[in-house]
Amino acid sequence: MRVEVKNLWFGYNSTPVLKNISIEASPGKVTVIIGPNGAGKSTLLKCIAGLLKPSGRVLLNGKEFRREHISRLISYIPQDHSIGVVLTVFETVLLGRINFLSWRINKRDLEIVMRVLRELRIEGLASRYISELSGGQRQMVFIAQALAREPKVLLMDEPVSNLDIRHQLEILNLIKKVTKDNTMTTILVLHDLNLAARYADELIVLRKGEVYNRGNPNSVLTEDMIRDVYGVHAKVGNDGGVPQVTPLKPLANGERLMEWERTEKVNTWLQAAHLSTLCGKDNSRKKANTRL
Ligand SMILES: Nc1ncnc2c1ncn2[C@@H]1O[C@H](COP(=O)(O)OP(=O)(O)OP(=O)(O)O)[C@@H](O)[C@H]1O
Ligand SMILES: [Mg+2]
Repeated sequence: MRVEVKNLWFGYNSTPVLKNISIEASPGKVTVIIGPNGAGKSTLLKCIAGLLKPSGRVLLNGKEFRREHISRLISYIPQDHSIGVVLTVFETVLLGRINFLSWRINKRDLEIVMRVLRELRIEGLASRYISELSGGQRQMVFIAQALAREPKVLLMDEPVSNLDIRHQLEILNLIKKVTKDNTMTTILVLHDLNLAARYADELIVLRKGEVYNRGNPNSVLTEDMIRDVYGVHAKVGNDGGVPQVTPLKPLANGERLMEWERTEKVNTWLQAAHLSTLCGKDNSRKKANTRL
């Protein structure tokens, strides 16, 4: 199912976080979104998942869908998944089938859950409580839940951030295979540029809420991009046709600040200025403050 985002704008308050985003993701392909902290990656995934209401359009196979329909087509794994209920691993993965459950759980649902648990090699955890798992194990369970839905579109926000290097590779291989075999449209957010280079068919670089560049990893992952977007000097080599990024050092202090770092600096400065007014020149305020 083709995903198209057209002229999308979104802000949590009056300040826009996403500015005029237009991107596409194709069936059978893994599209990876990269970009620094605060760039708007998670916000964009939430807009596509129908959890936020942006202006602009999000189209699935050329059509706009209502939220209740979107949840039948899209599996979304957020960046922070906490669960407040006491469920076993098996029950949690089975919940991924909920849109398909009628009055009774059928044999096919159980088979799919078992198959996914086996594919992720976590069937040994099936009867354990989610709350008693390690962070990485829990992350695997939520990946299993998303896959058990057999979605048309899979959205995953930093799916391998808690996993060791072996599990990172296993999960990304599996995601790539499932994407191809089921002609699923997969959009991942990743921070690791080398994993992004290896697994992305298409890369989208977000910077300060805008699309800085998009295309195949070889055309997008350049030393210039890493300097402009991340503020880091890096060397980009080539490992059998796949770009390989070696970060060298951040740009010198003052050479570059991220937008939100700038805001933090201004706020700190304002607080300092405010304090010096209270404590220094304005004695009546100082007294009032002390009384408080
Ligand atoms: N619920 C919210 N309310 C207000 N502002 C928010 C909210 N969620 C995110 N933001 C702000 O929106 C901007 C984009 O946040 P977002 O979480 O999309 O970034 P991100 O690219 O996913 O970053 P990270 O790599 O750190 O996960 C940030 O400036 C953030 O502070
Ligand atoms: Mg995020």
